[in-house]
Amino acid sequence: MKPINIGILGLGTVGSGAVGVLRNNAAEISRRLGRDVNVLMVATRSEEKARAVCTPETKVTADPFDVIKHPEIDIVVELFGGTDIAKDLVLQAIENGKHVVTANKKLLAEYGNEIFALAEQKNVMVNFEAAVAGGIPIIKALREGLSANNIRTIAGIINGTSNFILSEMREKGSDFADVLKQAQALGYAEADPTFDIEGHDAGHKITIMSALAFGTPVNFNACYLEGISKLDSRDIKYAEELGYRVKLLGITRKSEKGIELRVHPTLIPESRLLANVNGVMNAVRVDADMVGETLYYGPGAGSLPTASAVVADIIDISRLITADSGNRVPHLAFQASEVKAQRMLDMDEIISSYYLRVEADDKPGVLGQIANLLAKENVSIEALIQKGVIDKTNAEIVILTHSTIEKQIKNAIAEIEALDSVNTPVVMIRMESLHDKRGE
Ligand code: HSE
Repeated sequence: MKPINIGILGLGTVGSGAVGVLRNNAAEISRRLGRDVNVLMVATRSEEKARAVCTPETKVTADPFDVIKHPEIDIVVELFGGTDIAKDLVLQAIENGKHVVTANKKLLAEYGNEIFALAEQKNVMVNFEAAVAGGIPIIKALREGLSANNIRTIAGIINGTSNFILSEMREKGSDFADVLKQAQALGYAEADPTFDIEGHDAGHKITIMSALAFGTPVNFNACYLEGISKLDSRDIKYAEELGYRVKLLGITRKSEKGIELRVHPTLIPESRLLANVNGVMNAVRVDADMVGETLYYGPGAGSLPTASAVVADIIDISRLITADSGNRVPHLAFQASEVKAQRMLDMDEIISSYYLRVEADDKPGVLGQIANLLAKENVSIEALIQKGVIDKTNAEIVILTHSTIEKQIKNAIAEIEALDSVNTPVVMIRMESLHDKRGE
């Protein structure tokens, strides 16, 4: 069979990794695919870099539009990232009848509906395994491996930078700001780390997984984002003393009331597998009605792991290129006509358990007042301990609650903060036990 021709936009970490994977594993890839994959053209501003990475046969251009216009290119691999030029290029490539592979989570979480609609219209495939959790084949699992199931909950550690920072804070007792500097020095965190540490990157990834799990359009606007930058190492320590680890989780869950879509620091029991995913590694737990709980673990970033996902997409598209569009795997896992918006729950409506830390005067009756306010809002206490007196007059009280509606815990917190004996804002971190059918 004649080789499949690809054009790559961007020869950064992932792009040069993809060229390397295609070259190093060319024989094995051909054995699987039944044809060769030929890198016909790359778009990069550094001709020197392209020459170092690609074979002499690969054409090099500084103009990415040369790639998407090239009549012999079957698949365009978009690795520029971002939503400016990448969006125009992807839409134009689809208009030109090219299949697309992209690692661009931001583009798909924010503009996926427009991109997939155009792809349907033009009968082309858009594959995006590398957009979520790097080298872990979670898109394949959600779109195909679990297709016999009703998916109930997905909870994932899907930002390696944040997980590295939280792991270091726990192991060394260091403060957030110090570990962030270390992560930047090691090259894990970007110079502007906002996207990673404030939950945007994880939000893009859980938004894409939520759409695939529940057959809804992508809806990043509905995703609640809370990052790790305000976490105090004290709370990580107290959580550990109580048998919990703090992880930045992306969570999506479907109930009769609607769909939850959220990213925030979360206490999880230390016995859960997810609690033991450390450093820059990623892991995604999926709870589905027939199979039960499955867990996917691996590198969520890096040149070769992410390139492994990109090349798998190239192979998948090459296999299905001659299949009629009705027999291909749908972009959002469900037939396009069956992708339907569902009610997205407001954060006040979600059900969770909570960790609270209250700084209050160390005097008789304070604990009783706090417990009464929680009871008034129908919040049931699982554990309540006084951590000690932090100065001559102030005590720290740590409370774990049973599951409750978020609105009620927020009401209780407002009332606790209004007490004369409470002197600073209450710290609230959500908790998930991840062990039952609801995953609460
Ligand atoms: N910046 C991401 C992370 C990797 O830290 O996991 C790319 O999505």
